[in-house]
Amino acid sequence: MTKADIIVGIQWGDEGKGRVVDLYAQDYDVVARFGGGDNAGHQIKVGDVDIALRIVPSGVLNPHVELFVGGGTVINPVGLLEELDRLAAIGVDISRVRISDRAHVVLPYHAARDRANERARGAGAIGTTGRGIGPAYIDKAARTGITFGEFARRESLAEKIRLNLLHHAASLEGENVPSEEDLVGATLDAAQRLAPHIVDGVDYIHEKFARDKRVLIEGAQGSLLDVGYGTYPYVTSSHTIAGGACIGLGIGPGAVGRVIGVVKAYCTRVGAGPFPSELRDERGERLREAGGEFGTVTGRPRRCGWFDAVAGRYAVRLNGLNALALTKLDVLCGFERIGIVTGYRVRGQPVDFSAAGSPELEVVVEEMEGWDEPIGGLRTKAALPQAAQRYIARIEEVLATPVELVSVGRERNELVR
Ligand code: GDP
Ligand code: IMO
Ligand code: MG
Repeated sequence: MTKADIIVGIQWGDEGKGRVVDLYAQDYDVVARFGGGDNAGHQIKVGDVDIALRIVPSGVLNPHVELFVGGGTVINPVGLLEELDRLAAIGVDISRVRISDRAHVVLPYHAARDRANERARGAGAIGTTGRGIGPAYIDKAARTGITFGEFARRESLAEKIRLNLLHHAASLEGENVPSEEDLVGATLDAAQRLAPHIVDGVDYIHEKFARDKRVLIEGAQGSLLDVGYGTYPYVTSSHTIAGGACIGLGIGPGAVGRVIGVVKAYCTRVGAGPFPSELRDERGERLREAGGEFGTVTGRPRRCGWFDAVAGRYAVRLNGLNALALTKLDVLCGFERIGIVTGYRVRGQPVDFSAAGSPELEVVVEEMEGWDEPIGGLRTKAALPQAAQRYIARIEEVLATPVELVSVGRERNELVR
């Protein structure tokens, strides 16, 4: 059996996973997404095609690749249909997309509860994407959720929607939620259209292994947003780390080969929560502008800061990384000095990542020399300015993990190996 490889983000999301998966997918037969929902936004550019994906796996622009959305995901069916229509309109063959019957359905009442929960948190709001992801995972754990497997059963689907609306009536008060009749109607329509894509998710993936297909597993969000190991409670509601891939696809750890971590050359974060290396000055502003750091899903400006080696080392452990794909190195061009956070301290004492949220946290910043030459056109490490080569070497050193690919632009071919 050919083992499956996993690609995950090792920061707070938006590391460029979509761009990296698009590239690696050339050498795989199947790309499988294992968690999250349309809180994810993956931007991919190949020539004239510039797409934002939410649910559909990022291998989609490789015509030979089959696309699987695993049981660990939560999916808004109407949103997925819109995404599929958008892709079909640009000539993409969407018949390759398969959805696990174990994936859970996200409906408008989930988004409404997401909004209500955020309002109730007041100043402690998480800054969610407002897509209903948390409430959908709550329903899954509470065993009141609706799976895609149930989509086929029209009677029970309508009944479950009715019960859920009843159950959550109090928290939905004052929220803009469609009437029961409209919701059932729209969901049944969507179910009918999605039916050809729904498969027994466990059979599907194990069939691929049995036929020796090369499977690439795609993570969404970032390791530091993991519900168990991220900066809780400022996290998403799923397991985003590599271990989540086994749960999200229904495979054993022995089926996994390499784990590749996508790491941005600096850090960003959308929404609230600890961000020790954040730059709240003109350097942060400059990273945001140069890197186009505005949310794909919500359009919110992303918070920006230096690369954080403490957070990075933590994520290397969480994922058991074999290699790194470093993205957006081109964005650092023109900075005279580039910072790397190499340590955290509280009252002078070294502390680890678990102290990231401490109000007394101070960071140790190591400054490296920057470079002025644009690097987007370069294709080999040796051709990079000396300072850029030293920066890559330093990241490899502080994370004790080799960088096997450096992305220097949005286009598929803008990379250095
Ligand atoms: P994801 O959620 O991890 O897939 O990342 P996003 O797509 O949300 O955000 C990454 C953004 O950076 C996208 O707009 C990419 O097109 C862009 N991007 C990816 N790699 C590079 C790179 O090396 N350089 C530049 N300038 N942009 C990049
Ligand atoms: P991709 O796959 C960046 C963040 C939200 C918020 C927190 C909880 O594009 O990297 P949620 O809606 O999931 O309950 O929000 O998680 N978040 C992301 N941030 N990239 C993402 O996905 C994210 N998905 C969720 O901003 O802070
Ligand atoms: Mg994103």
